[in-house]
Amino acid sequence: MKKVALTGDRPTGNLHLGHLVGSLKSRVEMQNSFDQYIMLADVQALTDYFEKPQKIVDNVLEVIADYLAVGIDPKLSTIFIQSQIPELSELTMYYMNLVSLGRLERNPTVKAEIALRKFGESVPTGFLCYPISQASDITAFKAEVVPVGEDQLPMIELSNEIVRKFNRIYHTDCLKESAAHLSKTTRLVGIDGKAKASKSLNNAIFLSDSPDIIKQKVQAMYTDPGHVKISDPGTVKGNVVFAYLDAFYDEEEEISLLKKKYAQGGLGDTTLKSLLNDTLQKLLQPIREKRESLNKKDLLQICFCGTQKAKSVAKKTLFEVKSAIGINFFDKNLSDSN
Ligand code: TRP
Repeated sequence: MKKVALTGDRPTGNLHLGHLVGSLKSRVEMQNSFDQYIMLADVQALTDYFEKPQKIVDNVLEVIADYLAVGIDPKLSTIFIQSQIPELSELTMYYMNLVSLGRLERNPTVKAEIALRKFGESVPTGFLCYPISQASDITAFKAEVVPVGEDQLPMIELSNEIVRKFNRIYHTDCLKESAAHLSKTTRLVGIDGKAKASKSLNNAIFLSDSPDIIKQKVQAMYTDPGHVKISDPGTVKGNVVFAYLDAFYDEEEEISLLKKKYAQGGLGDTTLKSLLNDTLQKLLQPIREKRESLNKKDLLQICFCGTQKAKSVAKKTLFEVKSAIGINFFDKNLSDSN
């Protein structure tokens, strides 16, 4: 039996090269050796965007198109939409009893997000509680492995605390602890060189970008402002073009030679950017073409099937949870039928 792996994305925008190196590539690899679930975390996204639901609605299918375009195969990975599985929300209700307010307020990732959003004293309770809902996502599928970035470690820690507390209080072993799989690749810097590539900072190259846009974005990349003439020595550290070549150009030896030459002087930004542009065009063309070949109806059908499958698994876990608490008043026989 394959181990279950679960990941999720908040569907707040199209996916970009940062996602490709940060999570998508490893999902494509993992789908062969894991029973992989990939969730469109629209409920979680709404804790942040409840006033702009259309943004989330519009992006669900966009993100699924990105998944399929990079090679996530719906026959190998179960792609599903969080909001269509009310069992997850139900689990959250039972888990909320096991987590103190103080515990939620101490979550470092949530704390940073609250500061960023300037919620002040009026933090929406839904937002504060989203880590509990994430524990439901993880435990509903009995995920053993959760591939995430470092900022998600507090969520997995909380999820495991809930698992232990639930199993102890209700004398059961129906919930399973999970382990984070930290992605090895470092975060991809934005084209401005300032922070990580992100939609909100408008400094990312999207999987759906047209050849012209890709070219423009490469042209606009931050290099070394002190490198004026080709003969000037240039700085490699902090140079976005080299960061992207490191991430996407396979010839490592060639890159180290280029770095040496750039540092000594004699290698121009234009040459370098043209190499990167060719590299990214080659990488993104098949992805974009696959993306364009997908239609809305097929995408909906794919996530409908995935959601049905995910729902039956979540339903089973919810049944076990309610049985452990003792509140399956009417459907005791269900345990035989599923
Ligand atoms: N919090 C995750 C993020 O912002 C998304 C997410 C929701 C998730 N539920 C999850 C990730 C369960 C892993 C497992 O990226």
